[in-house]
Amino acid sequence: MAEEAVQRTPKRVVSGMRPTGRMHLGHFHGALKNWIEISNRADCYFFSADWHALTTDYKDPSRIAESQREMFADWIAAGLDPERCTLFIQSQVKQHAELFLLLGMVTPIGWLERVPTYKELQEQLREKDLANFGFLGYPALQTADVALYDADAVPVGQDQVSHLEFARELVRRFNHLYGNVLVEPHAYLTAVPKILGLDGRKMSKSFGNSIELGEEAESARKRIMVAVTDPARKRRTDPGNPDICAIYHLHRAYSPPETVAMVDRECRSAGIGCVDCKKTLLVSLIPALDRHREARAKLSPAVVEELVQLGTAKARKVAEPVMERVRAAMKL
Ligand code: TRP
Ligand code: SF4
Repeated sequence: MAEEAVQRTPKRVVSGMRPTGRMHLGHFHGALKNWIEISNRADCYFFSADWHALTTDYKDPSRIAESQREMFADWIAAGLDPERCTLFIQSQVKQHAELFLLLGMVTPIGWLERVPTYKELQEQLREKDLANFGFLGYPALQTADVALYDADAVPVGQDQVSHLEFARELVRRFNHLYGNVLVEPHAYLTAVPKILGLDGRKMSKSFGNSIELGEEAESARKRIMVAVTDPARKRRTDPGNPDICAIYHLHRAYSPPETVAMVDRECRSAGIGCVDCKKTLLVSLIPALDRHREARAKLSPAVVEELVQLGTAKARKVAEPVMERVRAAMKL
């Protein structure tokens, strides 16, 4: 794990997101912000992991395409510059499937079963039957996603660290068997402190505790005003701990430094109440949501679609020579 903390200067960067619904602030602060920053310094490939979305949403895949269109628009509206990086769709670069299949030959089932997210997600998504080969193989497909581009760095949130550890081990095993064919990928973590969901758990669409990127002011205001704060503050006079409060996390991301310092101080001394603290947050949060919504509305869907098609063609070109190396190493 210590090794993960090392932030190298990356050369080739690949990362993906699953198109499973509207993007929320957790996606932005947990990953996208990191993508935007790194795309100024490295050769970056960012993709829609639509096959990964199918591993959980296979019974009703009807929303994946729409989520994918919105996701690309959200990435660009949030500041990811398509001139500086390559945007593409996983399922349209078939080499991902081919490398996944070949990696499967050398992937111990025990390794897959031991990835912590395997059991965690099965428990979290009890309503879905996830006892499938595709879901079990999720980390192997993710390994193919990054190894296919010789990526040395993978900007992801903390929740993906175990997948990157898996990827490194699988690449090492592959290289041990077939010679040094693939590049070992490293997680490139965001320095930004994480954003909690409005109920104090991790921000996640399935918990219904998120604020969408570009959410309408009225809706965001209502949800913030009923959000859970530090449960120790039952009365206005009870001191609180901002570190465990979603509202404070949002202040850190959206409010000016003086406000953040004030909230930190006055929460602990019961100098302000949660209602006022929330109203202060909305002063900066609402305009940020408005700006995102306006930026997204200005994007032409046809232009976004074209950028993604161009990016997908480029991704295929980069992936194919790596696949040629892999096929040769495996005597195919
Ligand atoms: N598993 C990632 C997530 O849920 C999405 C993903 C798929 C990904 N393939 C990837 C991320 C490759 C980084 C690299 O967020
Ligand atoms: Fe959270 Fe603000 Fe209330 Fe403190 S004062 S518990 S930071 S909402």
